[in-house]
Amino acid sequence: MMTATVKLASRVRRLGYVLAFCFLAQVLWDVPGTWALNNGLARTPTMGWLHWERFMCNVDCQEDPDSCISEKLFRQIAELMASDGWKDAGYEYLCIDDCWMAPKRDSQGRLQADPKRFPGGIRRLADYVHSKGLKLGIYADVGNKTCAGFPGSFGYYDIDAKTFAEWGVDLLKFDGCYCDSIKHLADGYKRMSLALNRTGRSIVYSCEWPLYMQPLFKPNYTEIREYCNHWRNFADIYDSWQSIKNILDWTSSNQEKIIPVAGPGGWNDPDMLVIGNFGLSWNQQVTQMALWAIMAAPLLMSNDLRHISPEAKALLQDKDVIAINQDPLGKQGYRLRKDNNFEVWERPLLNLAWAVAMVNLQEIGGPRAYTISLTSLGQGLGCNPDCLITQLLPVKRKLGFHEWTSSLKIQINPTGTVLLRLEKANLTSLKNFH
Ligand code: GLA
Repeated sequence: MMTATVKLASRVRRLGYVLAFCFLAQVLWDVPGTWALNNGLARTPTMGWLHWERFMCNVDCQEDPDSCISEKLFRQIAELMASDGWKDAGYEYLCIDDCWMAPKRDSQGRLQADPKRFPGGIRRLADYVHSKGLKLGIYADVGNKTCAGFPGSFGYYDIDAKTFAEWGVDLLKFDGCYCDSIKHLADGYKRMSLALNRTGRSIVYSCEWPLYMQPLFKPNYTEIREYCNHWRNFADIYDSWQSIKNILDWTSSNQEKIIPVAGPGGWNDPDMLVIGNFGLSWNQQVTQMALWAIMAAPLLMSNDLRHISPEAKALLQDKDVIAINQDPLGKQGYRLRKDNNFEVWERPLLNLAWAVAMVNLQEIGGPRAYTISLTSLGQGLGCNPDCLITQLLPVKRKLGFHEWTSSLKIQINPTGTVLLRLEKANLTSLKNFH
């Protein structure tokens, strides 16, 4: 009996080594990078704040002085990002979306900020944002107009890139409304990328190129990655659970296409974090945070940092979850399984660690138990031959040492997620664990 167990254990270990080798070979084989946009930026997903989902195109500073798109709003958010732990947590880019512009270009054809709402112009705002140790993002559009109808960049790519660089802008979100043709769209995205590069300033380039090609044309992600630091694939996020579910469904249905292309320098962008707003329950906010970490998504919050609950703030600033999002290996996770209204997602991390997210999608009843066998995780290697497991969300707790052949039973709240981190159990980690 004893010999049989030993033999089985050694066979299991051998199988483990073979799997480990295959996995390493795969990791080394498909590390993207050499063919990413060569601007040295976004080596991990961009983190920051973007005004669109929460503040939209509110230009009425008379009626709504506290929430209109204005210099004042961005200065207040910059101040809070620096003073309330956001910057320290990694949220660095403060980004302006649509509706910052004056309705017309200036006499020399340059874009200009609305003079009433941005009395000091973008230059003064950029200086202020930089003085807080942050970076400034701006918005423009590849077509004839922005989506909200302000001047588009078509015919002005070089002038606009130069203007942004002179102002001290550090990120450009380039939208895709009002393009006459698919050729205009593709040429425009490429030309703006080259124009930004020529300015010599480091400017993260955030695209919506694939979103505007679909469903009529198939995006060439290899090409898109050569020009953009991140790219939106899917419709705008709303402050609702339905919207989060749509984004997750689209991502998992297209994962074979979009995951291999993500990596340091270029990321799939499932759109803003809406945590801290009105539409998501606590469990749904946990789900968004966990899954955006698994998807290696840019973490661009769109909320009101002046009015945010301590719970939402702690969730958004959770350093263990952010560490998964920012993992230096830069491999995007994927959906492993969907069964009985549960989904299991996983993501490979540095040092053969894994993140695993289990979502309970059933919207009736209470918490449900999900039992997962550890052999099925991390392509057979997540816990091979054994591992230390820490639950990170919804609350942090150590789940201890586990063997490959064991299984884990986890309770998950309706529409909530349990996020785990699996690590190899070597001597040091064992010591730190206890
Ligand atoms: C599009 C984009 C949004 C936002 C708006 C602004 O819909 O996808 O993210 O930038 O335009 O008008």
